[in-house]
Amino acid sequence: MKNIFKYINKNQLLEKIKNKFRRKRKLDSFDIRMEKQSLERMQYGYICFNAAKLAKKLGHKRISVIEYGVAGGRGLLILEEYVSEIKKILGIEIDIYGFDSSKGLPKPVDYRDLPYHWKEGFFNMDENYLRSKLKFANLVIGDIELTSKTFFSKYKPAPIGAIIHDFDLYSSTKIALSMLKEDQKYFLPRVYCYFDDTIGGEIELFNDYTGERLAINEFNSSNDDIKLAIPYHLVAKGNVQWHHQIWICHFFKHQQYNTFIDKPDQQLTINSLPRWHF
Ligand SMILES: C[S@@+](CC[C@H](N)C(=O)[O-])C[C@H]1O[C@@H](n2cnc3c(N)ncnc32)[C@H](O)[C@@H]1O
Repeated sequence: MKNIFKYINKNQLLEKIKNKFRRKRKLDSFDIRMEKQSLERMQYGYICFNAAKLAKKLGHKRISVIEYGVAGGRGLLILEEYVSEIKKILGIEIDIYGFDSSKGLPKPVDYRDLPYHWKEGFFNMDENYLRSKLKFANLVIGDIELTSKTFFSKYKPAPIGAIIHDFDLYSSTKIALSMLKEDQKYFLPRVYCYFDDTIGGEIELFNDYTGERLAINEFNSSNDDIKLAIPYHLVAKGNVQWHHQIWICHFFKHQQYNTFIDKPDQQLTINSLPRWHF
């Protein structure tokens, strides 16, 4: 019996090592790595890939992806790699914008910013070093309070299809979310969003009344036509943590919201079951 367990663990370990090696060497193409769940940041890959697929179906050639909270820049560098691969597969150009003050976390304002977990100055950026590493991502430097006011007029971004929220604090995330109320020409009708600080552990105890989750809840209760909604198809797929950190921003009044994007001719015979039965 003991030996069987040893065997199983050895195999699992071997699989993990093999995956890590393949990831490092990038032996598989991006879409295969997505399928095998072997990307370093699956959530980043998932939201960008699906935003690009939606853009293609809607006839767009170029979209934007945003990361709120850049810090050292690991996420932004990964995004550069992923969107370059997605462009090769789908032919969609993807611009990247990374928002950060470069000074690390601002001082938590009150209990909603979870001062028992976050501290002013955490995660500051070495801006010059990061700029020397980036190939094409745009760094939008400054407090979000200010940059949120000038971003759209300054950059006139291609429609935003995916957003990573990693500002950590309720107060910063609330401002980032308010940018969803800009002119809808700057967005795809459904935007794939990832919220990094919505699960955590015993110390964080992220919940609906503080942090990013509170910002999401308040956004939803104060907007009728734009809602951040849970993608139930992902939640239903296995117990994978990042599946529970994705929200889709639906712009119900967007001029492309009702554009048909599914398979063109669907029929059901008495022998066929709809695909959601499988
Ligand atoms: C956890 S870090 C981001 C980590 C990064 N996404 C990664 O994957 O490596 C959070 C960042 O949010 C930034 N930040 C938080 N509140 C901000 C605000 N009000 N304005 C601008 N940047 C802010 C901080 O400077 C910090 O670098």
